[in-house]
Amino acid sequence: MRTLVFATGNPNKVAEANQMLEVPFQILSLQDIDCTEDIPETSATIEGNALQKARYVSQNYDVDCFAEDTGLVVDALDGDPGVYSARYAGPARDAEANMNLLLNNLKGESDRSARFVTVIALIIDGKEYTFEGIAEGTIIHQKKGQQGFGYDPVFQPEGYKRTFAQMNAEEKNKISHRAKAVQLLNTFLQSY
Ligand code: IMP
Repeated sequence: MRTLVFATGNPNKVAEANQMLEVPFQILSLQDIDCTEDIPETSATIEGNALQKARYVSQNYDVDCFAEDTGLVVDALDGDPGVYSARYAGPARDAEANMNLLLNNLKGESDRSARFVTVIALIIDGKEYTFEGIAEGTIIHQKKGQQGFGYDPVFQPEGYKRTFAQMNAEEKNKISHRAKAVQLLNTFLQSY
């Protein structure tokens, strides 16, 4: 079976990808190829970061691979936190601090529209492909729910009266940005 490296340091994401992808490829982690260094993520866009990570692994390890990057894009904040979502409130990548800063920056704002954007960049047989998944929604005024991670407690997806953090993983994974991008990758690889 051909192998495909998922360029992420997060073993949960590799496990999730192995579950979601129904493809004739074995998905390997960075640990599987002995890549332990920090992969640069310095692009100004979500797509740029996904491509940067995939190119780094493809070029340095000579493997077929894919990488993903996700950001929360808020209209009233001119697209912030966007590509800076993980470190919005500082280098500690603290989800509570990030949400508090976001709610603070949106104080008094009536336009609460936002979207999660995931881009997966795939490099296979030397060619690059990107797949984008978007979940539209709004930023509510107070955190609600205990499940999920990151900005889930303040993000209410369109058509729902609950936040991502009030949904179980199965329910969120049916409508999430990441699930949509993974589904596009799945379809592409099935007919590759
Ligand atoms: P990363 O690209 O997975 O590192 O995510 C970038 C930032 O977006 C981090 O702050 C994550 O916590 C946040 N994030 C990514 N995916 C989700 C999600 O599905 N729900 C909530 N926050 C997310």
